Amino acid sequence: MINLEGVRVKVPASTANLGPGFDTLGMALSLFAWLELKPAPKTVFRLYGEEMKGVAKDKSNLIYEVAQKVFDEAGVSVPELEISMASEIPLARGLGSSASAIVGALYAANELIGAPLSAEKLFEMATALEKHPDNVGASLFGGIISAVWDGSSANHVRIEPPADLEVLVAIPSFQLSTAKARQVLPDRITMEDAVFNVSRASLLTGALAAGRLDLIAAAMRDRMHQPYRAPLIPGMERILEEATDHGALGAALSGAGPTLLALTERGAGRRDELAAFLQNVLADHGISAKMLWLSPSTEGVRKLLPEEKIPFAAESLV
Ligand code: HSE
Repeated sequence: MINLEGVRVKVPASTANLGPGFDTLGMALSLFAWLELKPAPKTVFRLYGEEMKGVAKDKSNLIYEVAQKVFDEAGVSVPELEISMASEIPLARGLGSSASAIVGALYAANELIGAPLSAEKLFEMATALEKHPDNVGASLFGGIISAVWDGSSANHVRIEPPADLEVLVAIPSFQLSTAKARQVLPDRITMEDAVFNVSRASLLTGALAAGRLDLIAAAMRDRMHQPYRAPLIPGMERILEEATDHGALGAALSGAGPTLLALTERGAGRRDELAAFLQNVLADHGISAKMLWLSPSTEGVRKLLPEEKIPFAAESLV
């Protein structure tokens, strides 16, 4: 039943809070983490890449703890594990690094013991750990996820991303924890702002499902979290206001930030202009940022094929 050879999985990053979809609309992105779990005589860790620096290498490690939750749920005992992980997803930047770690660990642990738990069960466990369903749903199922969490059960619909959708992310060099970015949010919003968001979230979900890229500009507006978080990300307000003047279909804070995201139509041109606009506005506020062009990842977490390698060299071991 337990696969002694181990299991290797690849899991995408994600953006949450897509436009007006606070805590509900997520999308998987073509930036990845890789994880291998293997039963072992004693728990050991092999962590590769800059993004893994500082990650715990004992049984308080998130991957270890999450894997044990799967084994407990399934009534199986695998107390000692060899855990290898490599990631290109930057930490605490709003690109779902913790969600991808949780989803990778849940999926790999479940596969290791013959997959007794359903994908829906894994989604529920992931959401209970992460508290919001949008990042974990996207990393688990890929594509665009519209999801609801009521505190005990999670529901979702997966939307195939429009084929021409491209994503520019500006990843600031500083980290911002979700906890800190949540502290600045108000306890209550007005009926007017609630209607503002719910109408645009509905329009955006429908537009993405129907491939109506022309509606994204009107739909990608938010009054629930971005205005309150603006002081934490200097330059954000101008980027959100003016990105469409520089070729974006729309722009948003990615998750709780600080990464900013602009959606574009592949082949529509003005890529350099848009990237320069984002970079220059952030630089005007003294913020350096890494610019990456990504695609929506239509694939969620999956097992690696035997011929696929975890793409990190031994020298990047941290
Ligand atoms: N939706 C969360 C927030 C971040 O904006 O606080 C993603 O989990």
